[in-house]
Parts: sequence; C-alpha cells; structure tokens
Amino acid sequence: MRPGEIPVELPADFDAGLYFIGRIRTPWKTRAECPKNGRLTREICTIEVDPRYAAALEGVEKFPRMVVVYFMDQARRDLVRQVPRHLGETRGTFALRSPVRPNPIALSVVELVGIEGNRLSVIGIDCLDGTPLLDLKPHYETVDGSPLQRT
Ligand SMILES: C[S@@+](CC[C@H](N)C(=O)[O-])C[C@H]1O[C@@H](n2cnc3c(N)ncnc32)[C@H](O)[C@@H]1O
Repeated sequence: MRPGEIPVELPADFDAGLYFIGRIRTPWKTRAECPKNGRLTREICTIEVDPRYAAALEGVEKFPRMVVVYFMDQARRDLVRQVPRHLGETRGTFALRSPVRPNPIALSVVELVGIEGNRLSVIGIDCLDGTPLLDLKPHYETVDGSPLQRT
C-alpha cells in the first residue's frame, strides 16, 4: 500500500457466483509488462473460449469490435482510496480504471481480427496471460459510442 491509500473490511460472503467462460492469452506475465489500457497496444492476443460455450460464438464474426469483460484475478479488492503510480495523488476507487476494486471486473473494446473454432484473435487487450474471461458482447457504435451523442 502507498501513503494515502485506504483499505476496508470486505463482506464475509459473496452475493453472486460467476462462471469463468475461458482464458485470455497474452504475452504479458507481470502486471508491469501489461499495457495500461488496450488502446496502447497493437499486440494480437487470443481469447480462448471454453469449448462448452463454443456455440455461443455463432455470429460474432459479423462484429469488427467486441466488448470483452474479464476478471482481474491478481488484484486486491479492499482499497477504496488509491494512489495510482501514474497519478501520484489519492483518488476514490470508483473514479479509477484500476483493477483494484471490490469486484475486479475489467473491460476492453477490442478489434476482432480472426476466429478459429473457439479461439478469437483480438487487438486491444491489456491483461496478464491466463486472465479469466467473464463475457463477450458485440460492440455497437450506436449504443457504446459517446453517451453525449443522445438522440
Ligand atoms: C488499468 S487496468 C484497465 C483494465 C480495463 N481495460 C478496464 O478499463 O476496465 C489494466 C492493468 O491491470 C493490470 N492487470 C492486468 N491483468 C491483471 C490481472 N489478471 N489481475 C490483476 N491486475 C491485472 C495491469 O497492470 C494492466 O496494466
């Protein structure tokens, strides 16, 4: 922990369960090696979907961009105030994209550059090799573009 950071006691029990639906394969073995966000890399990474869910991939080839939701399994979960290295000042967890949060759920909008069976090749992801996959959704410019562009 850095000076100014504040932990809380987490609840004794979880409120919900999740299924990991696959793993994300990247070249990065340490957090320090990972890009800070997906926009900072052109590395082609692989999303390996569990074969159990392969049928759920039908139709994804129609979408040039996908939203990837993943679980930052190496992150601590108890900090409500943090001092990110790049900011050097204290900020509330919900004002940050830090993986350190009560539910360490991350998302990236990726470019889909290939599909082979249950493996998707993507550009634009920022996580450690082996990070658990939680969900995949199509990215819609109309829905996911700037929220200021309301009709
Ligand atoms: C700042 S977060 C952004 C995540 C996502 N793009 C978002 O906005 O929700 C990305 C950083 O999380 C860290 N990270 C990557 N994979 C992780 C994992 N499996 N567990 C914990 N931290 C991870 C790395 O330091 C990486 O640079």
